[in-house]
Amino acid sequence: MSSRSINKTTPQRTPAKKARTKKAATRRVATPENNVKGKLYASLVVQLLSLLKGEHDFIANTANFSALLFNSLPNVNWAGFYFLQGDELVLGPFQGNPACVRIPMGQGVCGVAAQQCETIIVPNVHEFPGHIACDVASNSEIVVPLFDGERLLGVLDLDSPTIGRFDDQDAEGLNELVTVFVAHEEGIGP
Ligand code: SME
Repeated sequence: MSSRSINKTTPQRTPAKKARTKKAATRRVATPENNVKGKLYASLVVQLLSLLKGEHDFIANTANFSALLFNSLPNVNWAGFYFLQGDELVLGPFQGNPACVRIPMGQGVCGVAAQQCETIIVPNVHEFPGHIACDVASNSEIVVPLFDGERLLGVLDLDSPTIGRFDDQDAEGLNELVTVFVAHEEGIGP
């Protein structure tokens, strides 16, 4: 694990960028389907808190976090973390097929989300310029940055074989989960 000292080039979240998601704003319409999704994310927050209770080992907790997401969210073929080391993202705990280990900042969906410090939803990865294909089964993706205060720690990445699998409700739910996670882990990090 790398030092936790703040690198001068480490992207810093600005208040203006907080909770931004790179996708056209859509008006949420309450349907039975998204209510189910909302309840699933609410239940995941409870389950995550239960997994984290009394444990502060960062690797163990990110491993369990990725396993919880992979096994609870439907149509997901990869769920895991990349952590910032210098000017690149390095593979952390995950569930799914083996993946590329290093992603330079600004490259792939993960590198762009990390550089821009914002959540990115990609409905069709084959249309995203520079997408890095780790699993040929992946057709859509969502990447959520993780912050320790204003410092970028890395990203949470989820892939799906289903085109358009992730929406604003997933972005909201996953952002809430990483916020809960980082609040628990605050001051530890990779
Ligand atoms: N698709 C990602 C690379 C990581 S894998 O999906 C696990 C990207 O373009 O950054």
